Amino acid sequence: MGKITDALKKAAEERVGHIEKLNRVRATRLFVAQRTMESQIDPRVVAFFDPKAAISEQYKILRTNILALNKGNPPRTLVVTSSTQGEGKTITCLNLAVAMVHSNRKTRVLLIDADMRRGRTAEYLGVKAEVGLSEVLKGEAELEQALYHVEAIENLTVLSSGAVPDHPVELVDSTAMRDLLKTAATQFDMVIIDTPPIISVTDAGIVGSIADGVLMVVRAGKTQRGLVNRAEELLYQSHAKVLGRVLTNIEYHVPEYIYRYL
Ligand SMILES: Nc1ncnc2c1ncn2[C@@H]1O[C@H](COP(=O)(O)OP(=O)(O)OP(=O)(O)O)[C@@H](O)[C@H]1O
Ligand SMILES: [Mg+2]
Repeated sequence: MGKITDALKKAAEERVGHIEKLNRVRATRLFVAQRTMESQIDPRVVAFFDPKAAISEQYKILRTNILALNKGNPPRTLVVTSSTQGEGKTITCLNLAVAMVHSNRKTRVLLIDADMRRGRTAEYLGVKAEVGLSEVLKGEAELEQALYHVEAIENLTVLSSGAVPDHPVELVDSTAMRDLLKTAATQFDMVIIDTPPIISVTDAGIVGSIADGVLMVVRAGKTQRGLVNRAEELLYQSHAKVLGRVLTNIEYHVPEYIYRYL
């Protein structure tokens, strides 16, 4: 047990309503596949580059668990957030989206980058989007114009964050945002929404309240339990439904038997 981090031990004690744990995914780490083809896609989208890698398997388990939620009537609009910055939200969204489109069900996925302050989702997918969410919400662009198909990944469409607006909260807290999600849910099988961290800004709570549910990304060994609790309290107050937690940054050397309790 010596090497197991505090966060892991605490998580094990709590037996939180997690969805799945994820191993480290760093450009220099074991699980990241080399680029084997000309691609603009970020190498950390391991589910795309190396679907058989151990971490890709974990994203598939995450996918399966999500699809099994609510007795097989899974959320169609799913917000991904975390308490603080840099916990792995965007990388989780990307890999989960790829795992979803690779499922047998031929799931059509829309990835919405609702981090209008510093969204980079489209960039990670090699998509150069001229307009995105902020333009659509401001009424400066039609939704159809802002949907970009990711050429290398069949069935994956992205709506980028767009130009940084003056008042992102007002933009997401709007009828336009609600209508957009409603429309998206009719056109796609699964809508995954990347957001900024909930403790810094309220965007994720607002979007979470109009989506079917929220996944909390927690960076193991770093994020304090108090912060995670606070984040979930904020989501609860916003009437957003937390479906589970995704632990990132799990050390590979954690023995397998510990996983069973996470
Ligand atoms: N499963 C993982 N294990 C370890 N590191 C990870 C994992 N997923 C992502 N990371 C790393 O964590 C860092 C932050 O990732 P990412 O940009 O996805 O976080 P974020 O929560 O979206 O950040 P921000 O709050 O800035 O939007 C990156 O360096 C990424 O490589
Ligand atoms: Mg991010």
